[in-house]
Amino acid sequence: MMLIQETDYGTPIRLSTKLVTLTIDGQDVTVPEGTSIMRAAAEMGTKVPKLCATDSIEAFGSCRLCAVEIEGRRGTPASCTTPVENGLKVWTQTGKLAKLRRNIMELYISDHPLDCLTCPANGNCELQDMAGVVGLRDVRYGFKGANHLDAQKDESNPYFTFDASKCIVCSRCVRACEEVQGTFALTIDSRGFASTVSPGQKEDFLGSECVSCGACVQACPTATLMEKTIIEAGQPEHSVVTTCAYCGVGCSFKAELRGTEVVNMVPYKDGQANHGHSCVKGRFAWGYTTHQDRITKPMIRAKITDPWTEVSWEEAINHAASEFKRIQKKYGRTSVGGITSSRCTNEETYLVQKLIRAAFGTNNVDTCARVCHSPTGYGLSTTLGTSAGTQNFDSVREADVVMVIGANPTDGHPVFASHLKKRLRQGAKLIVIDPRRIDLVKSPHIQAQYHLPLKPGTNVAMINAMAHVIVTEGLVQEDYVAERCDMAEFNRWRDFVSDKRHAPEEMEKYTGVKAADVREAARLYASVRNAAIYYGLGVTEHSQGSTMVMGMANLAMATGNIGHVGAGVNPLRGQNNVQGSCDMGSFPHELPGYRHIATDAVRHQFEAAWGVTLDPEPGLRIPNMLDAAVDGTFMGIYIQGEDIAQSDPNTKHVTAGLEAMECVVVQDIFLNETANYAHVFLPGTTFLEKDGTFTNAERRINMVRQAIPPMPGYADWQVTMMLSNALGYRMDYTHPSEIMDEIAHLTPTFKGVSYQRLEEMGSIQWPCNDAAPNGTPTMHIDRFVRGLGRFMITEFVPTEERVGPRFPLILTTGRILSQYNVGAQTRRTENVAWHPEDVLEIHAHDAEQRGIRDGDNVAVVSRVGETSLKAVISERMQPGVVYTTFHHVGTGANVITTDFSDWATNCPEYKVTAVEVRLSNHQSEWQRENALFRDATRRIHKAAE
Ligand code: SF4
Ligand code: SF4
Ligand code: SF4
Ligand code: FES
Repeated sequence: MMLIQETDYGTPIRLSTKLVTLTIDGQDVTVPEGTSIMRAAAEMGTKVPKLCATDSIEAFGSCRLCAVEIEGRRGTPASCTTPVENGLKVWTQTGKLAKLRRNIMELYISDHPLDCLTCPANGNCELQDMAGVVGLRDVRYGFKGANHLDAQKDESNPYFTFDASKCIVCSRCVRACEEVQGTFALTIDSRGFASTVSPGQKEDFLGSECVSCGACVQACPTATLMEKTIIEAGQPEHSVVTTCAYCGVGCSFKAELRGTEVVNMVPYKDGQANHGHSCVKGRFAWGYTTHQDRITKPMIRAKITDPWTEVSWEEAINHAASEFKRIQKKYGRTSVGGITSSRCTNEETYLVQKLIRAAFGTNNVDTCARVCHSPTGYGLSTTLGTSAGTQNFDSVREADVVMVIGANPTDGHPVFASHLKKRLRQGAKLIVIDPRRIDLVKSPHIQAQYHLPLKPGTNVAMINAMAHVIVTEGLVQEDYVAERCDMAEFNRWRDFVSDKRHAPEEMEKYTGVKAADVREAARLYASVRNAAIYYGLGVTEHSQGSTMVMGMANLAMATGNIGHVGAGVNPLRGQNNVQGSCDMGSFPHELPGYRHIATDAVRHQFEAAWGVTLDPEPGLRIPNMLDAAVDGTFMGIYIQGEDIAQSDPNTKHVTAGLEAMECVVVQDIFLNETANYAHVFLPGTTFLEKDGTFTNAERRINMVRQAIPPMPGYADWQVTMMLSNALGYRMDYTHPSEIMDEIAHLTPTFKGVSYQRLEEMGSIQWPCNDAAPNGTPTMHIDRFVRGLGRFMITEFVPTEERVGPRFPLILTTGRILSQYNVGAQTRRTENVAWHPEDVLEIHAHDAEQRGIRDGDNVAVVSRVGETSLKAVISERMQPGVVYTTFHHVGTGANVITTDFSDWATNCPEYKVTAVEVRLSNHQSEWQRENALFRDATRRIHKAAE
C-alpha cells in the first residue's frame, strides 16, 4: 500500500458545458467556462505555486504566490482568481515571476518558526514545499523583527491543536468553515500584521461554535491546525480508501497508517457521498477500534450469572451450534432465530440471513431497521414501488425548496447538512416540520421560511393539512398525475384530503401549529419546480410511521416532485448500512431485493442456489421473538452487531425476553448490554478490519477495505460461515467479493454489481442491472417502479399513548452530533468531551411549574418505567414536550419508552411517550439494579496465556 496523494487543483471545479481554450506555457488546454487559470494549469499537470488557494474553497487571492504573466495584460495577475478566456496566452514560470515568488516566500518565512525538522508536518507542509518550489535559500530580513513566534497554542480541542505561531493567515481555515462546513466558527481578528485566526469571540476551539468537523484542519497548508494523532505518531506512510461506519451518509475516507497503526482518517475527495468533507465522528472518533475494552477472544458460559470463560474459536462455535441444535430438537425448528446488523457489511448481513433461513431452517430473522426505518420500506414501496429514497445527495444542489421533516441533519447527518446548508445559502427555501427548534431553523446565514413546531405524534394530521391546501387551492400538477399515477386512487385520495376535516384550521387542534403557517408552507412547497423532502426517524418512529411515509409520497406525487433532480422523498437513514441490511433480506418476510418469501418463483430461485428447502411462511419480528421467548417457545438467538437491550423500547420487556432464552449468542466488538444476557460471545471486527460494502441512504454501495488485520483473527463474515458449517450447512467463501457475486446473481437490482465494477466506478447506486448498467442516481424518472404511482388514504389516528393528569408531558428522543446511537463506539472516544451524559431538555415554563432549575437532577416517569438524569432548560423545546438522547447506558432512556408501534411494521413509537418529570435526588430503582446486574454479568475468567 502507498500513501494516496490527491491532486489539489487549487480552485473548485466548474461544470459549465461551454468550453474555453487557452494556452499555458505554450500548451493548449480546454476547460469549462469559469475555471481559474490555476485549475486549468493543474488539469494539464502544471502546478502553479500557491498558498491561500485550495480546491475545496473559492479563491481569495491574498498570498499572490500564484501570480502569472498573461500576454497583452499588465502586471502579474493571481492565477487562482483569474478566470480562463478563449485565446489567452499564459506563462507560469518566468524570471520575473520567480523573483516575485521568492520575495513573497521570504516574507512568510521570516515570521515562521524554523523548526521544520522537528515539526509534525515535516514532509506534509505546503509552506515548506513552496519554499522549496520557489528556490528560497536565504531570508535577508533576519528573524529578529516583530513576529508571532510566541503566539499561544490552543490545545482545547480533543483532536487537533491550533499553533498560532505557525499561522500564515491565509484564511483557508476560515473559508473552509464557512463554505464547506457552513458553521462560521472562525474569523480573522484584527488587521494587517496583527491579524490572527480566532474561533468565535476570542474563545478557544472547544468553547466556540466549532463542531470539530476537521474541514479547517484539512485546508490548513501549515502545521497550525494539526491532528493530535499525527503529532503523537508521526506522518502516515500508506493509506487505504474505505467508508465511515457511523451514519447513513456513507462518507469515504482515506485510512492513513504507519505500519498497522491507523494515525489519521482523512475525508476522500473522490467520495461520491461526501466530496471530501466529514464530521467529527468519521474524521476523529475512530479510537474505539483499538480501545482496551475490545473483546478479542471467544467466550462461553452456562448461565448469565457465571463469569465468562475464554475458549478457542472452535470450542465457541461448536458450543453455539450444538446449543442451537439442542434447542431446535427440544422446542422445534422455529424456536431459534437471529438478528442481522445494520453496522456490518452487506456481505455479512446477507450471510446471517442466509444462515438463519438455510441452516436454522426458519425465517425468524430481523434487523435493527425494524426499530428505525421499516416504515420507509413499507410506505415507499406501497406508493412508488421501491423501499428506498428517490435521489442522490447531490440532488439537493438543485432543490428550490427543501422540506425537512422529523430529522435533525446537522446532528444526525452532518455532511449532508453541510451540502444542504450550502444550497440554502445560495437561496433555496427551507421548511422545517419538527417539534423542536433544531439548528437548521436558524443558524449563520440560514433562516427557515417556516418552522412548523407540531406536537409529537401529529405528523399525519400535518401532512393531510398540507395536502388539503394543495388539492383545494388548485396546486396539483394535474398533467404529471394524469400521466404517471393511478387516477382512480388519486381521485379517491383527492376526495379524502379535500374534506374539510383535514383543513389546516381543523387540524390545528391536533398539531398545535397555526393554520396560516401550514397554508403558506404548503403553497411554498407546491410553488416551485424542484421541491425535495428529507425526513428522519421523527417520521418513522410513530404508531403511524408508515402512514406518514405514504402521506409524504402522496404530496410529492401530487406536486410532480418525483423523478427528477432536485426533488424527491428521501429518508435520512440512521446507521451506516441500514439501507443495505434491508436490501439484503433481513426482514422475516423478504428475501434479498425485497421479494416476498411466499412467492414461489422467488423462493425456488433461492432454494436452487442454496440447495435447501425454504419455509414459505414469514418468520418472527424482533418484538415477536421476545414475546415468544417470554411465552417459552423461542429459546435461542444469534445477534450480530446489535444491542437490543439498550436500543429497543421498553427495556424491561426486552431483557425479560433475553433472560428467558436458553442460548443467546452475541457477536460484537464490546461486551454490550445485550451480552449481559448472552451465553456465547463471539468477538466481532470493526470496519477497519475487513473487506465488504456498505449501502448508504442514497442507495450507494461503497467499498469497505481492510486497513488493519482483524483483532480476533477472523472477520465477521468468516465467523458466520464457521457457525453455519458447524450447524451442517456448508459455506465456502474465500473472500467477500464471492458473497457479492452471489447477491448479484440472486437479486435483480444488484445484477450489475461486482467488486470489479465498484473498483472501476468508486461506488454504485442500485438498481444496477441491464437497464441501468451504471446504477441509478435518480429513481422513477419516466415511470414509477411499481408502474403507476399509487396515492394512499392516510387517515389520522391519534396515538394511544395519551398525555393526561398523571403523565402530562410528551417525551421525544433523538441523538446528537458527537455521540452515536447507544454510544458503544463514541463513548469510547474523546467525543465524550461534548456529551458526557444524557440530559433532559425541558421548556422553561414546564421547569418552573415543577420547581426545576437548570442542572437539577430529575426523575422521568412513564407508564412503563422510570429513570433519572440532569435537566437542562432549553429554548428549543415547546411547552409540554421534553427531549432526551439514549447514548449512555446509565440513563437507560428506553426504560421509559413504551412498546406501542407502527401499525404496519412494528417500528416502535420512540418519539411519543407520556411522562411526568419531577425533582429527584437519587437514581431510579432500575438504574440501581441494572448497575449491580451489569457488574455481576461482566466478569471474565481469562484463559492462561
Ligand atoms: S490556521 Fe492554517 S489555514 Fe488558517 S489562516 Fe493559519 S495557516 Fe491559514
Ligand atoms: S473543525 Fe469544522 S467547525 Fe470547527 S472551526 Fe474547523 S471547519 Fe469550523
Ligand atoms: S456524516 Fe456520517 S458517514 Fe460522514 S463522517 Fe459523519 S458519521 Fe461518518
Ligand atoms: S494562491 Fe492565488 S493568491 Fe494565494
